[in-house]
Amino acid sequence: MKTVLVLNGPNLNLLGTREPAIYGSDTLADVEKLCRDEGARLGFAVDCRQSNHEGQLIDWIHEAGRECAAGRMIGVVFNAGAYTHTSVALHDAIKGANVPVIELHISNVHAREPFRHQSWLSPAASGIIVGFGVQGYALAIAGLKLLAEKSKT
Ligand code: DQA
Repeated sequence: MKTVLVLNGPNLNLLGTREPAIYGSDTLADVEKLCRDEGARLGFAVDCRQSNHEGQLIDWIHEAGRECAAGRMIGVVFNAGAYTHTSVALHDAIKGANVPVIELHISNVHAREPFRHQSWLSPAASGIIVGFGVQGYALAIAGLKLLAEKSKT
């Protein structure tokens, strides 16, 4: 069974209590269960990780590149939190690791403050899911499956 890596970046460990009017009341554990359930439905194992540290996220993207190259992983669902708007290093990591990444945001970042409208990840991402709440994680896993099937044909 192939794997999907679900990566959550800074402050997403606070889901459930962090600005619930924007991010909802589900906790990170609820989100990770949703991801594992969707993975099981679609025939994938789901590996969920969260870090508040940019370098750790970069190391995991590199690891995902190696796993994809070995045929054991189909790609990454990545909510990079605020690093989305600041991190050229994450952009370079995605390109350098040559890994399919679905950029995900729980909220509609384009309807929020102007500093959230810029994403360094989008130009390196294979697809983007924005504004569907935590259900977006399930959509992103389904999207990765579609991309993996497309790349076989
Ligand atoms: C977020 C949006 C980002 O702007 C913010 O910094 C986050 C969460 C989202 O899921 O909507 O931490 O990525």
